[in-house]
Amino acid sequence: MATILREWSYRYPWFYDGVIRLAALTVGGETKFRQLALDGLEITPDLHLLDLCCGDGQATRFLVTRSAHVIGFDASPIAIERANQNVPEAKYVRGWAEAMPFEDQQFDLVHVSLGLHEMRPVQLWRIMQEVHRVLKPGGVFTLIDFYVPVNWLYSLGLNLFLLLFETETAWQFIKTDLLDLSARVGFQEADRTLYAGGSLQVVHARKGTQ
Ligand SMILES: C[S@@+](CC[C@H](N)C(=O)[O-])C[C@H]1O[C@@H](n2cnc3c(N)ncnc32)[C@H](O)[C@@H]1O
Repeated sequence: MATILREWSYRYPWFYDGVIRLAALTVGGETKFRQLALDGLEITPDLHLLDLCCGDGQATRFLVTRSAHVIGFDASPIAIERANQNVPEAKYVRGWAEAMPFEDQQFDLVHVSLGLHEMRPVQLWRIMQEVHRVLKPGGVFTLIDFYVPVNWLYSLGLNLFLLLFETETAWQFIKTDLLDLSARVGFQEADRTLYAGGSLQVVHARKGTQ
């Protein structure tokens, strides 16, 4: 279930960005929110980064400050067009995350911000396999997305947010163990850090070097 607010958030960039800005106050503001998944990673300008489900380039904007080789990828032609205008420093490719048109072992880092909660379980499985395939040996997958809050106040906030803006996939997603999923697709190490009372998770998973 979702409401008209979901449609508005896709139709009007100012509305989506405003909602995210408001929600990001729970972690200290949008700039902080957009960098949480990158914290602790050594990203040098020569690394090849993929912003998967890049939307209008909201997170791509931060990736291009770290590397000169950033590709934004999204299924929506409108999102790709807006991202191109908003963050021209990156290159963009349109397609489905379940079947990415990239070579094996092309990227050092694959980043997904608020993208995977939109996927059905079978899509999620396929996308995780694709992420593993396109990463170089030793490459890192990093994600920021919703999770199950640990206290009632954040639980109330997240439930309200999901009711207003999201569909059934988000409710399923927060119960999915991404560490287990990462291990099953072949990642060697994975860890999760929780923010905003547990309503946000950052997952880092590293591909083995063999
Ligand atoms: C909620 S937006 C996230 C935008 C941005 N990354 C952010 O952090 O604000 C989710 C994006 O995922 C894209 N998307 C949804 N399903 C997809 C799929 N199967 N393959 C590629 N992109 C997809 C949508 O077009 C949308 O732009």
